[in-house]
Amino acid sequence: MKPRDMPIRELIEKLKEEHAALPGIIDDAVITYKTGNLSGAFPVIAEVRETLSQHIIDEEGTLLKFLIEKIGKGSSEPYIKILQDHPKIMKLVEQSVESTYTGWTETETDLNLLKEALANHHKQEEEELYPKVISLL
Ligand SMILES: [Fe+2]
Ligand SMILES: [Fe+2]
Repeated sequence: MKPRDMPIRELIEKLKEEHAALPGIIDDAVITYKTGNLSGAFPVIAEVRETLSQHIIDEEGTLLKFLIEKIGKGSSEPYIKILQDHPKIMKLVEQSVESTYTGWTETETDLNLLKEALANHHKQEEEELYPKVISLL
C-alpha cells in the first residue's frame, strides 16, 4: 500500500471524513453481529482494517514526511508522539479480526476499545497535527 496521490489539503479533508465515518462503521459491525449475522459482520470489520491501513500510511508517509521536511525532526516530536498511537490502534484492529474467528466472544470488547482509542487519537490529530500541517502549506 502506498500513500494516496492527492494534494495535502484534500488529503486532510479525506482523513477527517474517515475519522467521522469510522465510529459508525464500527457500530455497524457490532449491530450486524448482534442480529446474528456473523458472516455479514466480518466484511465490515475487514473494511475498518482496510480504511485504517491506508489512512495510517497517508498520515505517516505524507503528513509526517512533509512536517519533518518543513520543521525538522526535533520540532516534529510532539506530532510524532501522536502518530505513535498507530501500532496500538492496528493491534486492536487485528485483535478484533482474530476474535471473529474464535466465535466473537471478545470482538465487541475489542471493538469498543478500538472506538475509544480512535476517539482520543482523532481529537489530537484534528486539534494539533492537521492544523500544524495546514499552517505550513
Ligand atoms: Fe492517525
Ligand atoms: Fe487519522
